[in-house]
Amino acid sequence: MSDVRIFELGKDSDKARMIARLHIVAFPGFFLTQLGESFLTALYQGYIEDDNSGVIVAESIKNRQILGFAAYSKDYSGFYSELKKNHLVKFTLCSLSVIIKHPSYIRRLLGAFKKSDEVRRAERYVELASIGVCSNAQGKGIGGQLVDYLVSVTNFNEYEYISLETDTIDNETANRFYQKRGFKIARKYVTPEGRMMNEYRYRRETD
Ligand SMILES: CC(C)(COP(=O)(O)OP(=O)(O)OC[C@H]1O[C@@H](n2cnc3c(N)ncnc32)[C@H](O)[C@@H]1OP(=O)(O)O)[C@@H](O)C(=O)NCCC(=O)NCCS
Repeated sequence: MSDVRIFELGKDSDKARMIARLHIVAFPGFFLTQLGESFLTALYQGYIEDDNSGVIVAESIKNRQILGFAAYSKDYSGFYSELKKNHLVKFTLCSLSVIIKHPSYIRRLLGAFKKSDEVRRAERYVELASIGVCSNAQGKGIGGQLVDYLVSVTNFNEYEYISLETDTIDNETANRFYQKRGFKIARKYVTPEGRMMNEYRYRRETD
């Protein structure tokens, strides 16, 4: 699709709420979506502001509407430990009304903040933490352009690969999408909630 502009949001961008709304539409029923718009706004604000992370967007040239986004981090473990250290109270407050309705979410929320330990690896890598395209713009090449942009700005001399996790089951579109773009399954695992996941890695092609 040539009538979109792909670029990374600046550190002072005020588009976090818009990204949160897109996330809600792209990921219906997912745990983070259930935590609500305020929680997601704070999370994407975190990606935007973090020095080692960012949010790449696809913006319609015609009306400047954001049609898709990709959030990434070059230090995923550091990103989560920073959130835990500085923003745990803010995130808990943002999701308070949901937690009151579903007290069992507290454990999962705290579990999510444990990510800083889980995602620590010996090698340096870039995490594609989430990517979403609004439903009426899917299948037009926007997701592909967002991935291409992240690949093009990744320094593979410094980072070994781009990593991402996605559901194994009932998720053919996303799995095919990544496989067609050169992502290879590195491992499969089951989350504490029983979701079977594929972890993909994209490495620079060497000749
Ligand atoms: C997965 C997702 C990000 C892909 O974004 P997208 O913009 O639909 O992706 P693309 O259009 O680039 O590619 C999708 C398909 O459209 C096709 N396509 C690409 N350009 C096209 C065009 N100009 N016209 C029509 N179709 C096109 C591609 O061939 C591709 O098919 P393939 O997967 O068989 O190769 C999007 O479907 C989405 O947001 N899904 C919901 C959230 C989600 O599942 N996120 C990923 C989980 S981690």
